[in-house]
Amino acid sequence: MDYQILIKQAYEAQKNAYTPYSHWQVGAALLGKNGTIYHGCNIENAAYTPTNCAERTAFFKAVSEGIREFDGIAIVGNYEGQKQGEGDYCAPCGVCRQVMQEFCNPKEFQVILAKSMEDYKVFTLEELFPMGFGPDNLGK
Ligand code: THU
Repeated sequence: MDYQILIKQAYEAQKNAYTPYSHWQVGAALLGKNGTIYHGCNIENAAYTPTNCAERTAFFKAVSEGIREFDGIAIVGNYEGQKQGEGDYCAPCGVCRQVMQEFCNPKEFQVILAKSMEDYKVFTLEELFPMGFGPDNLGK
């Protein structure tokens, strides 16, 4: 997997983040096993709770197109106006980790957290979400 291509795509996705409330802009690039990259951004809402994270936007776009197998996701996040490298790594929230668990092998799925094109960390889903409850627990 080419991490830098995925990170670049996450920065592209971030450009569409809709964040009038938190001003925290997140971009995600999800690599399907079919080789296609799905973009996601966070989409906020005046009622707050309908907000959708960038990661779930990417997953739901892919799944809604019939794609259910994935190799990895790159995630970038920073406040509006911050430059690449100024912010911290943007770790996925618990709800997004649970969605990843539904569709990914936790031992293999790679989560790339990037501060810039050069500064990134790679985790497996299992490292970020140990003992996650998933389809296997229900025999699926
Ligand atoms: N957010 C994401 O999109 N992904 C994450 O990994 C963390 C949080 C969004 C949700 C909300 O729009 C904003 O960041 C602040 O929580």
